[in-house]
Amino acid sequence: MKQLGIIGYQLSHSISPEFQQAALDHHKINAEFHRWEIKEDELNSFFETIQDADFVGASVTIPYKEKCVDLVDKVSDSANLIGAVNCIVNTNNQLVGHNTDGSGFIRALKTKHGFNLKKKKVLLIGAGGAAKAISHSLIKENIKEITIANRTVSRGDELAQKLKSITTKVNSIKLERQSLIKPLKDVDLIVNTTSIGMKNSLHPEHSPIPIDLIPNNAIVNDIVYNPIETPLIKAAKMRNASTIGGLDMLVYQGVEAFELWTGRRAPETIMYDAAREALGL
Ligand code: ATR
Repeated sequence: MKQLGIIGYQLSHSISPEFQQAALDHHKINAEFHRWEIKEDELNSFFETIQDADFVGASVTIPYKEKCVDLVDKVSDSANLIGAVNCIVNTNNQLVGHNTDGSGFIRALKTKHGFNLKKKKVLLIGAGGAAKAISHSLIKENIKEITIANRTVSRGDELAQKLKSITTKVNSIKLERQSLIKPLKDVDLIVNTTSIGMKNSLHPEHSPIPIDLIPNNAIVNDIVYNPIETPLIKAAKMRNASTIGGLDMLVYQGVEAFELWTGRRAPETIMYDAAREALGL
């Protein structure tokens, strides 16, 4: 039997095994998708054990996305640029590291929601790992401009600087009301990549941006999926803006991974439904 799984530490909340197994079963692929909860000091030996013919590939999550760049045999260009691997594929006994976080985010926006990114203005909230993956993928889509708003400005500046080697259309601002007024005026897409609004975070009841500044013709995409309706999504709905919840990026990074592992078209709806069921929705 073929073996796949998710590698991380503290995986009890991960729903990847449920929606990936549903996709494998749909295609009648004789494979098992595991929950590989690995402690840091066991990571190297784990990588030695998975290098056999039955191992197809793995998803990688917190806290190992950056570490995996050095643990695989080869890294894709985008994973290399982002500096993180969230998907490993066993290609002829070579472990190849990919990053499907950004490409999954874009695919959900474009194919599921029919959003055309060309010439659009984007406000990206946050400058961490998720922001990095999403911003690199956004820039490939011929957007007009990207503004990074982060609590720690130096970190936002650092990401902006990296992106400037690829594009000139990037700004960095502080995540505060005064600085947000201008970029939010004519923004097309707002993406929250911070944990603000997440269940059990420091600020589960907060929106990362002031509600009254959300324009009604913008699309608001919160990558937080727990709760499914975050304070930002609720606020955007109140402002009559369009909304996209975090489950889309989670499922579509998995859709992209599934296709890399199997070469088959991922059953998107089946995966999405399995994800919702795993969350008890
Ligand atoms: P991830 O890989 O999920 O993106 P990360 O790399 O730790 O996680 O990045 C977390 C992001 O959320 C950062 O942009 C962080 O802002 P700082 O760079 O200022 O730390 C942001 N973030 C987390 N909690 C926040 C809060 N309470 N207020 C504002 N920003 C917050």
